[in-house]
Formats: sequence, C-alpha cells, structure tokens
Amino acid sequence: MTRTTDFLAPARLGRLGLPHHLVMAPLTRNRAEADGTPGPLMVTHYTQRATAGLLIGEASTPNAVGQTYPNITAIHTDRHEAGWRRVTEAVRAAGGHMFLQLQHGGRVSHPATTGLTPVAPSPVPLPETIFTPRGHRPAVVPREMTRDDIRATAADFAAAARRAVAAGFEGVEVHSANGHLLHQFLAGNTNRRTDGYGGPAGRRVRFTAEVTEAVADAIGADRVGLRISPGSTVNGVREDDTEALYPALLARLKDLDLAYLHLVHADPDTTVYRRIRADWPGVLIGNPVLTDLTTEAVTRAARDMLAAGADLVALGRPFLANPDLVRRLRLGAPLNPVRDRYLMYVGGADGYTDYPALDAQAPSPSRDSIVATDGPRVA
Ligand SMILES: Cc1cc2nc3c(=O)[nH]c(=O)nc-3n(C[C@H](O)[C@H](O)[C@H](O)COP(=O)(O)O)c2cc1C
Repeated sequence: MTRTTDFLAPARLGRLGLPHHLVMAPLTRNRAEADGTPGPLMVTHYTQRATAGLLIGEASTPNAVGQTYPNITAIHTDRHEAGWRRVTEAVRAAGGHMFLQLQHGGRVSHPATTGLTPVAPSPVPLPETIFTPRGHRPAVVPREMTRDDIRATAADFAAAARRAVAAGFEGVEVHSANGHLLHQFLAGNTNRRTDGYGGPAGRRVRFTAEVTEAVADAIGADRVGLRISPGSTVNGVREDDTEALYPALLARLKDLDLAYLHLVHADPDTTVYRRIRADWPGVLIGNPVLTDLTTEAVTRAARDMLAAGADLVALGRPFLANPDLVRRLRLGAPLNPVRDRYLMYVGGADGYTDYPALDAQAPSPSRDSIVATDGPRVA
C-alpha cells in the first residue's frame, strides 16, 4: 500500500479497491431486535453511510453468553444471518464494502440480559454497574472458563465468521480491545489463570491468537481483521505490561497474513501508532480517539494517522453524526454535532438515522468534547 497523507485519495485493502482511506469504525447503537437481529432501521443507518467505502459493522455477539447489553447485534442464528444480509445487500448496492466486528463481552454481561452467568478468564467481576433490560445492575462474578469453554468459544467465533461471510460481509474483525473477553485474557488484572492461558505476556496472548487463528481457518486470513487497544483501561482492564504484551501478540500473528490490524488509541503524538507500525508488517488501520470533532481537527487527525504509518484511518463519531462525512471533508464543510450522548439506550430513528446530509440543513459549527470509549458505557 502506498504511503500518503492524502486520506481522500483511493486506497486498497487486499483485493478491495476503496474510494479513499477512511473507514467507519464499529459503533454499537443498540438498535437490533430483542434477539439481536438487525431490522430495517439498521439497513437505513448503514446505507446512509455507505460512502465510508469500508464500514465495520458494530460489535456482534458470536454466542448467547457473549451478549453485553440489550438490543446489541448478534450473528449466531439463521435469523441474525438473514437480518444482516439485508444490511450488506443494501450497502453493496450503495457502493460500500462491509466487515462485521465479532465481540464476546466476557464479564461485561449480565444474567438479567442473557439468562446466563457470564464467563471470563478468571472470576473477577467488572467493578462497575451494567445496563440491563431492568436498568443498571451491579456486575456479577463471572464463571472461570474451562479448557472446554475456551475451545468452544473459539469455535463459536469461527462459526460466527462463516455466518458473516454467508450474510454477505467481506470479512470480520475480531474484537480484542476495550476490555471485552479477549482483552480480559490479555490484561493481568482480569486474567489470573495459572494454566497455559495465563501468567506471562506470552501466555496471556494465547486466547486472542487462537480465536484469530480459528477465524482465519474458517474464512481465510485475508478476510480477518483484529482490533486492539493497547493500554486501554475501558471496562476495568489493566495490562501493566503493555510493552511486552503487544509485541508478543503481534509476533505470534504476523505470519498469518491477516487483512488488517486495527489499532485504537488516544495518542495525540502518535507514539503508540509508530511503535505498533514497526512491529506489524501488514495493513494497519489507525483509529485516533478524537477530542475535537470539527472538520479541521478530524482532517488533521486523519493526516497524522497516515503520517504515523497507518494505511487506513477509522473514524467513529464523525461517521455517527455525518452520513455524508466524506463529502463534507472533501468540501471542508462543517460537521454535525453529535447529539444527546449518542442516544444509546433509546432505540429508534432519533439520533440514529435522522442526522442530516449537507444539502438538507443549514451549516452549523460542531464541537464535542466527549471522550469516546466503547459502546453503551459512554451513554
Ligand atoms: C456510540 C459508540 C459505540 C461504539 N461501539 C463500538 C463497538 O461496537 N466496537 C468497538 O470496537 N468500538 C466501539 N466504539 C469505539 C469506536 O469504534 C471508536 O474507537 C471511538 O469512538 C473513537 O473514535 P472517534 O474518536 O472517531 O469516535 C464505540 C464508540 C461509540 C461512541
């Protein structure tokens, strides 16, 4: 891939030709039906944003126990697959390409939502409340995963990946970031295991590596991305040895020829991006965590990402609030402000499919200083 800081120039991702270097980051919006099936509103939401070129569909659970919150999307039944197929067909007809993020919540889950005891590397509960259909509830102590659970969970990820491809996605992104199950294995404070999946960094990376390998075996490595958030403390994880952990993980995965590595980090001077770039020979997607959502700041951050060695730039809230983000950035036009803390638990079109395109509104300046984390916790 050519190195350029012109993020609006055409790009490639493996065999996909992309119209520019911008990618829509995964954005959980809790608009699925109760069983996790995407409905018509989600078709509209993603189609509106198809000029993203590459869209990463929101975190979707590969099995029942991995569900984090009510009304998040899933991909483990025929019905889920059929619902997602309506999304991918509409996005493709509108000229977009789409991957789907696969996310198991691990301890970020609650029996009031799933009817099941959450599972995790070790019985260490989330030190926070969790949103459930009955409101916010204290987290419960998760059950420590057995070797059989570990094998079965990797197989669930692989099966979900096969379903995603059958549903028309070009590939999947394995979510090993932001304190969810895979990140709980990476982080020392949530992984207290004494078997081959716990202890030093080289053993804590094993579960993420095995899940990624299982998914790559299932659908081909060129259809598989991996998302990481080194040093992130979202959802109560603490790594302590970030400097050893990620080189160990990347060393184990770099010969797999994955479609991409997706790095999210609040890193204004791009140090972490440059470090990971040096350790990763494949495609790198950089997702800067923005503190200023103006046209000028988003433009600067996208250029900085490419200058730091990223091949593509993922943006979250700018796409959330601007269905025509790419056009606005081309024109240097103002961006819509992000409304109402993403209207996360509300459901419906409000704050979801009703963000106007440029021609449908009077220009307004945008400024939003909410720091993004992951999914409903920010609401
Ligand atoms: C409403 C919302 C939902 C999110 N959902 C996800 C998700 O499903 N998976 C994920 O990995 N990150 C998720 N994130 C994090 C974003 O992908 C992104 O990393 C973050 O918003 C920083 O990028 P930005 O500054 O461009 O918004 C979410 C963020 C927000 C604001």
